[in-house]
Amino acid sequence: MFRRAARRLVYRGLPLAFRLRTAALACHWGAARWSLALIGDLAQRDPAEFHAFLWRHHLAAARTFSATRSLDELVPSRRLLVQDILAALRVQALSVDSVLDAGCSSGFLLRHFECALRPAPQFLIGFDLDAAALAAGQAELTARGSRCRLFPGDLRQPPQFNPLTPAHAGFDLVVCAGVLRYFSEAAARTAVSWLMRQTRGLLVLTGPASRGCDNGTLTASQVLPHASFAHNFDAMIAKAQGRIVFRRWQGAQLCGGQTVYFVFARPDQF
Ligand SMILES: C[S@@+](CC[C@H](N)C(=O)[O-])C[C@H]1O[C@@H](n2cnc3c(N)ncnc32)[C@H](O)[C@@H]1O
Repeated sequence: MFRRAARRLVYRGLPLAFRLRTAALACHWGAARWSLALIGDLAQRDPAEFHAFLWRHHLAAARTFSATRSLDELVPSRRLLVQDILAALRVQALSVDSVLDAGCSSGFLLRHFECALRPAPQFLIGFDLDAAALAAGQAELTARGSRCRLFPGDLRQPPQFNPLTPAHAGFDLVVCAGVLRYFSEAAARTAVSWLMRQTRGLLVLTGPASRGCDNGTLTASQVLPHASFAHNFDAMIAKAQGRIVFRRWQGAQLCGGQTVYFVFARPDQF
C-alpha cells in the first residue's frame, strides 16, 4: 500500500500530457491497471478528462455499455425518454428533419428516432469519444440501410458543421443524454450553451437526479460517487437563452436502475 501511494506521488510529478500518452500506450499493451494509476488523480482534478480517457480507451463502464444497448430494444430509462420526446414534439408541433445526438455511443437513440418519427428525418448525426462503440454501431446501422451517421467527436471541443450542409443552420432535435454527468459544472455549462446554439427545435438533456432536492433548486452541481455530477440543467438552460418546455425529476425513484432528470428546452426566440 505504501509503495502504491509512493508510486502515485511520483506519477503526479510528471507532466499531464506525458502521463496521458503513457497511459494510452499502457492501455494499448493491455496494462489498463497501470494507466489508471498514472491518471487516477484526474478523477478529482479534471473529471471530464478522466472519464474521456476511460470512454476513449474502452475502460470501466465503457467495456460493457455499448454491448448492453441494442438498436432494437431500449433500456427502461431511454424508453421513457423517447416517449417524453415524442410527446413534447407533438405538443410543440415540431416536425423533425434533422437530429444530433451528442455522446451517441452506438447510435441506438438515433435509430429509434429514425424508426419512430414520420416522415423519417433525413439527417441523423451522432458523435462520441468511444471509437469501438461508433464502429460497431455504424456497421450495424449501415447493414440495416439506416441514414444515421456516427463520427468521432468530443463535446468539450465540439465539431464544426459544414456550412454547405443543412446541419449548419441548426438541428430540429438535439439530444445529449447521460453525458454531462461526467463534466464539472463549468464544463457542463459551456457544453449546454453550445448545444443550445445547435438547436432550432428541441434540446433534450438528461442526467442523474440530485439527492434530497430537485436539481432545479441546486445552487451548485452536486458531486456524486465515481467522480460524476448532478447538475442544475434548468439554470444552465436559462443562462444559454433557452426556454424550458418540459421537465421530469423523479428524485430517488429508479427507472431500470437509473434516476431520472430530463429537461427539454427551445431557443428563447421561438
Ligand atoms: C452513459 S453513456 C450514454 C449514451 C447515450 N447517450 C444514452 O443516452 O444512453 C455516455 C456516453 O457519453 C460519451 N462521452 C463521454 N464523454 C464525452 C465527451 N467529452 N464527448 C463526447 N462523448 C462523450 C461516452 O463515450 C458514452 O458513449
